[in-house]
Amino acid sequence: MAKQLKLNDYKQQIADVYNRRSHNYDESQWHLKIAHRLVEYAQISPGYDVLDIATGTGHVAIEVAQRVGSSGKIVGVDISTQMLTLARRKVEALSLSNVELQLADAEALNFPANSFERILCANAFPLMTDMEATLRQWMQFLKPNGLVGFHALADAALVGVVIWQKIFEKYGVLQEFSQPTATTADTAEKCHNLLERSGFEAIDIKTEQYGNYISLEEAKQRWTINSYPAPKFSNTLFQLPSEQLQEIKAEFDAQLEALVTEQGIWNDGTSFFAFGRKGKNSEQ
Ligand SMILES: C[S@@+](CC[C@H](N)C(=O)[O-])C[C@H]1O[C@@H](n2cnc3c(N)ncnc32)[C@H](O)[C@@H]1O
Repeated sequence: MAKQLKLNDYKQQIADVYNRRSHNYDESQWHLKIAHRLVEYAQISPGYDVLDIATGTGHVAIEVAQRVGSSGKIVGVDISTQMLTLARRKVEALSLSNVELQLADAEALNFPANSFERILCANAFPLMTDMEATLRQWMQFLKPNGLVGFHALADAALVGVVIWQKIFEKYGVLQEFSQPTATTADTAEKCHNLLERSGFEAIDIKTEQYGNYISLEEAKQRWTINSYPAPKFSNTLFQLPSEQLQEIKAEFDAQLEALVTEQGIWNDGTSFFAFGRKGKNSEQ
């Protein structure tokens, strides 16, 4: 791909993580399921123009392409060249002619105003650095009455991340983790408020309960998790002096051990599918 993106350190790390992870990304049934649910909720009709933010290997883009048909169009953007390469291969294998894939940062896009009926973002929205500004920007690209929809995980989701958060709080380690869902229990409300502050109307948050049991061993491996939403976590964590890091690692393991039940450790996946509508008469 000829185009090169100028990314800051944080985004370059994300792109690197997904470039490395791309070869087996499609083995994850979780991401496919979440993408599918988001598309189902998005009320897509034939002929729609849709923007798939952080398209990855194209889960949303491909399903939407099939739904909008030849009179519609889907544009997928991502910062990871390798994820896009896989998406492109799948699009070609399926002979889909209504999909356009672009290397682009979702927080610095450049589309004409009023371009899309739907803007969707599956499994990636919490990676955005300024979510409110980003949503405002995306709103400009929506046609009046168009819908934005994103997926976010609940506070209690992903056991490794939950324990990390507790430990970070305990040790007072600076945490720049910018999820709309962070810190309070009422996370659907946080998504709602974020969409409201960004100027969206008719906000609708669908909650779905997911989760599975994992072994203590698997949970402990999440210490070195190298993807969602790791770059910010690991950046902060691994800069600590090694003695403190060892202490924190011991605490991480101990907190996981305390969660073990007969079935294993519950790894929550409670998910929010958050939708907001651009006003019919919106000037944005
Ligand atoms: C977990 S994958 C999700 C991919 C796809 N949406 C799905 O549901 O399978 C996260 C994707 O977000 C992309 N991403 C993260 N930050 C981004 C940004 N600022 N702009 C564009 N893509 C981004 C990553 O490169 C990666 O492909």
